[in-house]
Amino acid sequence: MPTRNKTDVMVLGAGAAGMICAVEAGRRGLSVTVIDHARAPGEKIRISGGGRCNFTNLHCGPGNFLSNNPRFAISALRSFTQHDFIDRVKARGIAYHEKTLGQLFCDSSARDIINMLTGDMRDAGVRLELSTEILEVNQADQGFDVQTSQGNWQADRLVVATGGKSIPKMGATGLGYEIAARFGHRVTETRAGLVPFTWASNMAESWSALSGVAVDVNARCNGATFREAMLFTHRGLSGPAMLQISSYWRDGDRLSIDLAPDRDLADALKQERSSRPKGSPWTTLGEIVPKRLAQHLESQTGDSAIRLADMSNAAIETIAARLHGFELIPGGTEGYRTAEVTLGGVDTDQLNQKTMESRLVPGLHFIGEVVDVTGHLGGHNFQWAWSSGVAAGRHI
Ligand code: FDA
Repeated sequence: MPTRNKTDVMVLGAGAAGMICAVEAGRRGLSVTVIDHARAPGEKIRISGGGRCNFTNLHCGPGNFLSNNPRFAISALRSFTQHDFIDRVKARGIAYHEKTLGQLFCDSSARDIINMLTGDMRDAGVRLELSTEILEVNQADQGFDVQTSQGNWQADRLVVATGGKSIPKMGATGLGYEIAARFGHRVTETRAGLVPFTWASNMAESWSALSGVAVDVNARCNGATFREAMLFTHRGLSGPAMLQISSYWRDGDRLSIDLAPDRDLADALKQERSSRPKGSPWTTLGEIVPKRLAQHLESQTGDSAIRLADMSNAAIETIAARLHGFELIPGGTEGYRTAEVTLGGVDTDQLNQKTMESRLVPGLHFIGEVVDVTGHLGGHNFQWAWSSGVAAGRHI
């Protein structure tokens, strides 16, 4: 008979949500064990934010999340806010700064956040089992049986915090969705979010020449709008504006991109027509948007000899409208290989919003990215991990 260890709470996944949940439960005097197949905890925290971890956002609120039920996240986000997490960061003496749009980053390294969480787990008496495969999870007479590569466990309560499918190379698996389905939970359609776009085959050759060009844009798709930077790459479009809008995009949808959101291009061209009538409209536009972009658009129109003096107001407005409402249908996205998050997940209708507990199986909780709650870029996904993790840890 293999050894059977006993724990009050078993947390599957030593990521952001799993670790903070373990801390909360451990502080309440429960015996807590966290299991992960990775060799180190918090691997996604380590690589996040370019190694500095964008750990929350000053402006985080329910409006920053996508879910089949947008109201589900409200309770957890209110119970443990970005300011509560910032207080912990401050109490640890971790230096941080606001980069832009309320996004808070560590001054030094994302490891500061991992060290804070592992230190808190140690202080709360949490047992951390790394390099451990989860083989099987079953409901038992009392609680749950969890079979792992390092032995079998009996746990009164089980918390699934195994994250999403993004970046399999970093240890992401669909285990959380499988466990949910096995216990009778609905899992909404999952797909890659916060992910770069790839060119459609008819654009790839000519547009990849713009690789490296960055421009501030207003990107729109399916009712969402983001005013941030866009980056042309060899393979397609990236940068914060594209990552954000990718979460709202579905195969075949059209993107509408204002390439000069702060300017009235028609007005600028008409003024230039008065002062420099012999000038090319594309020279003027190349002083407003990046020159290489203007040159590329010019090459696409096939009318490089045109002079401003020859242009009617209607012709000017047509060119301006093309840049303010540049439209394209991406070929696809880079998928889970580079996506920051997985959209969709464990259906929130079958979870208690205050405790993250299953409405079907008492004692079973789902937290973090595995749940159908996905944040915008900018620290919101970690805030959801903190808020949902604390909600479960305090009520377990
Ligand atoms: P997370 O993925 O963190 O943890 C899941 C854990 O479960 C992992 O440790 C994994 O090893 C383990 N696991 C999975 N399957 C298992 C199995 N079968 N057996 C055992 N263990 C298993 N967000 C943000 O707010 N600010 C940012 O700066 C960034 N930056 C960023 C960069 C990159 C490159 C990525 C990919 C993602 C981000 N994110 C982000 C998103 C953020 O990392 C993500 O939303 C959270 O890490 C989710 O936390 P979870 O704890 O739910 O999952």
